[in-house]
Amino acid sequence: MGGKNLLKKIAIKGTGSYFPERVVPNSYFEKIVDTSHEWIVARTGIQTRRMIEPGQALSDLAIYASGKALEMAGLPPEKLDIIIVGTSSPDMLTPSSACIVQDRLGAKNAVAFDINAACPGFIYGLAVAQKFMQDGSYHHALVIGGEIISNRIDFRDRATCVLFGDGAGAVVLGHSKSTGDGEIMNVQIQSDGNLWNLIHVPGGGSRIPPSQQMLNEGLHYVKMQGNEVFKYAVRIMVDSALRAMRSKGITSDQIDWFIPHQANIRIMEMVANRLGISMEKVIVTVDKHGNTSAASIPTALDEAVRSGKIQRGNLILMSSFGAGLTWGAALFRY
Ligand code: ACO
Repeated sequence: MGGKNLLKKIAIKGTGSYFPERVVPNSYFEKIVDTSHEWIVARTGIQTRRMIEPGQALSDLAIYASGKALEMAGLPPEKLDIIIVGTSSPDMLTPSSACIVQDRLGAKNAVAFDINAACPGFIYGLAVAQKFMQDGSYHHALVIGGEIISNRIDFRDRATCVLFGDGAGAVVLGHSKSTGDGEIMNVQIQSDGNLWNLIHVPGGGSRIPPSQQMLNEGLHYVKMQGNEVFKYAVRIMVDSALRAMRSKGITSDQIDWFIPHQANIRIMEMVANRLGISMEKVIVTVDKHGNTSAASIPTALDEAVRSGKIQRGNLILMSSFGAGLTWGAALFRY
């Protein structure tokens, strides 16, 4: 019982993404902080990002992304067994945004929960869904990565406010019935809590509950030691990507497309370079969308699938890092 060869293969059956309509160019920040379009492009690669209108919440974006993924998969929501939302910006502290998505989709047969693992939240979600599906307990999963960061950034802090954007991406997973269906080959997830204070939102949780003083001190905003994070980011993204490839005896020349976390084009270039993957094989959306945290990889995947770049049968590598620190990689045949 339980031999490795009895584990079922899991494949991506559908992808979807959604961004809010409001486009925020770099020139917006030139008016509110001491920065320039040239600095932002040279140091990050970001030209624009999307941000919500006041009143929009994570599930508003996640619903659209999920609807598109379900439509591509040809799956009615009642057939979903599990819904996982990777996010660090849920609609409310409780219940989970996954339960709100479940309600709004009418996915009445699913179990739903969030994973708070910052930017790699989507890869963490893939890892959990894969475990539940491999033994056949669950047949269909909806894994979402979504984030609304624009209302948690301090628009007076030039070191963070220019970096982030809002969005949501989703995939529908099902069992792989033939080689043409593709297969999730390996998922790696890791964390080092020793480095939690490199990126954190101090206020609003149980340590510093909401109060007027918390707001006055801006403790509800993202605090980040950007250049420290940069140093770890390259090393840990490369490390987890190599672990995923080595676990299946894959070398970087076999990778058709690499989808790194879209945080900063310089980090993406360094990681691709160290892995020996040419930038022509790297999916880049950070220029249009900025860093959308947990949404960055599933939205980039969906855009590449829908534009025809990623084709069935392609070998895809993903790698991400974020607050925690957390990091992870996924290797799959689409
Ligand atoms: N415009 C102009 N100057 C700026 C800006 C800005 N927007 N931001 C910072 N600077 C200044 C700094 O104040 C500093 O000035 P100083 O030399 O006078 O002190 C100078 O630029 C250099 O600052 P660094 O922080 O060393 O700049 P760096 O080249 O490292 O770029 C950046 C900063 C873009 C934040 C980079 O470090 C980075 O991308 N780090 C990774 C962050 C990240 O990807 N986090 C992802 C995880 S997020 C999550 O989990 C939700």
